[in-house]
Amino acid sequence: MHPSHYAVEKILSSGPVIPVIVIEDVAYAVPLARALIAGGVRVLEVTLRTPAAIDSIRAIVDAVPEALVGAGTLINDADIRRAQAAGASFGVSPGATPSLLAAATELSFPMLPGVMTPSDVIAAIHAGYTALKLFPAAQAGGIGMLKALNGPFPQVRFCPTGGISPTSATDFLALPNVACVGGSWLTPADLIEARDWAGITRLAQQASQLR
Ligand code: 3PG
Repeated sequence: MHPSHYAVEKILSSGPVIPVIVIEDVAYAVPLARALIAGGVRVLEVTLRTPAAIDSIRAIVDAVPEALVGAGTLINDADIRRAQAAGASFGVSPGATPSLLAAATELSFPMLPGVMTPSDVIAAIHAGYTALKLFPAAQAGGIGMLKALNGPFPQVRFCPTGGISPTSATDFLALPNVACVGGSWLTPADLIEARDWAGITRLAQQASQLR
């Protein structure tokens, strides 16, 4: 197994929920990360969806060493390079094109690639990946889809993400092929803007006890 795949296995085993985070202002990054850590959530996915994302990853890596910081929404090799340069220890992508997977392998960057169809899963296995994000999970069929995928692909462990709530997360986490789930509910924009770090810690505590 490629060494970077061990890193992904570790990330998937570090807790039941990976928060999918959108940071609009780098000033929020470190207190937000500390709030999540205080609630027992150590693996953080900071999405590259805002101009503040890369600086936020760098700030968290520098100031919060206990966090395992990844970059989300990676769609090309330039994104992987930017994430890596900022100190991200893994990447998450909404899809899994051959060029994206090849770039991650070439750069030895641990990746959790997004899949939605059996053909996506086959292509990812072919590229050496057996830890995959199912995205968008609820819209792709949710629990039923994951049960169906477990037949032909028992070697794959999934992190379903997209449309999962604290209520539905429990059912996803009970499936044998689900390692963890991803979700944005731990870091709602209104709590971040209000700097309600205690509120985010409470959401993180609830999430870390889901299994
Ligand atoms: C996303 O890409 O934003 C993630 O899939 C999170 O989805 P959610 O907001 O439905 O949790």
